[in-house]
Amino acid sequence: MNRRAVYSRGGSPAEVLTVVEEPEPAPPERGQVLIRTTAFPVHPGDLLAVAAYPGAAAKPVPAGIEATGVVEAIGPDTPVAPDVKVGGRVSVFPQPGAWSQWIVADAERVVAVPDELSDDVAAQMLVNPLTAVMLRREAEEHLALGYDGVLVQTAAGSSVGRLVTGVSRFHGLALVNVVRSEHGAAGLRERFPEVPVVATEHPGWADEVRRAADGRPVSVAFDAIGGKLAESLLDLLTPGGKLISYGLIAEEPISVHASTLVGKSLTLRGKNISRWLSEASPERRASDVATAGQIARGLRDQFDVAATYGLGELAEAVEHAVRPGKVGTVLVRPW
Ligand SMILES: NC(=O)c1ccc[n+]([C@@H]2O[C@H](COP(=O)([O-])OP(=O)(O)OC[C@H]3O[C@@H](n4cnc5c(N)ncnc54)[C@H](OP(=O)(O)O)[C@@H]3O)[C@@H](O)[C@H]2O)c1
Repeated sequence: MNRRAVYSRGGSPAEVLTVVEEPEPAPPERGQVLIRTTAFPVHPGDLLAVAAYPGAAAKPVPAGIEATGVVEAIGPDTPVAPDVKVGGRVSVFPQPGAWSQWIVADAERVVAVPDELSDDVAAQMLVNPLTAVMLRREAEEHLALGYDGVLVQTAAGSSVGRLVTGVSRFHGLALVNVVRSEHGAAGLRERFPEVPVVATEHPGWADEVRRAADGRPVSVAFDAIGGKLAESLLDLLTPGGKLISYGLIAEEPISVHASTLVGKSLTLRGKNISRWLSEASPERRASDVATAGQIARGLRDQFDVAATYGLGELAEAVEHAVRPGKVGTVLVRPW
């Protein structure tokens, strides 16, 4: 049997996600790889997809988008990425229905896991590093970045935020990290002592960001929150600056008067990794996946695991995944 997480209507993930049993998949066909999964991450985006599902589904919708595991079989005459072989460890993204004991994946989306990476890192090897790559590319289109311009990011203690910090340091980009609590700021300072961190629980936090920028223009902001915080970031940006919105944690909308955008010639840009991958050429995708692998190897200490659950504890896992103060990604081991 195969056990798989599914939902039949939108709503609170802890309530609507269930685990069903179904027959084991048939042998893979041409172009497919059969994977026995060993772990999958619970990403905020997975939970958003469940929460936002409109109405009731005609048939259960498989959950999840990323997983790691071991190749059980490769379809006949199937071209695979380097080092993908039967018995070898692989990760897969985007894989709708990744929260399952068995996955029949499109071979083009399967990449080998480097030997030096643990299964815990392998389970997070694609979505978050690719997001960091996507954001960095978007930021580098701003001429000041890498010169005198400063980058600001919110939710800096998140799994993505820590990778953005590591990547920014590697590329010499000036960064100011923003988190909501002084507790979170202290943890981040310990990890990256040379990167300034500001906590929005201080009323004067925006001035603290300006002081940390030390007279240099705040040219780019990465924002995973939205709402009022995004509005404050628009105020912080220098004329010609760019706000890149990639998450929707805040309930309220981003409210901005046109004069703010017009007066300072600001750019407000939304980015998401699914669209990035579908818009990128195969060569760009392959290059980005290779970069994601480099990030996983180079920053493997930043792939913290908040906790690991079994498939039978899915409700606890999804509850933990949105718990305030959690550091790292929640993983599920499906066997
Ligand atoms: N666009 C894309 O393609 C894409 C791809 C990947 C991720 N994302 C987004 O990136 C964000 C981070 O993902 P992740 O997996 O790295 O998340 P994560 O590790 O679960 O971290 C979530 C972070 O959000 C902070 N946070 C939660 N609610 C907040 C609030 N109301 N105000 C301020 N901060 C708040 C938390 O801070 P505390 O430590 O204080 O609790 C925590 O640092 C999510 O919004 C996710 O949807 C987008």
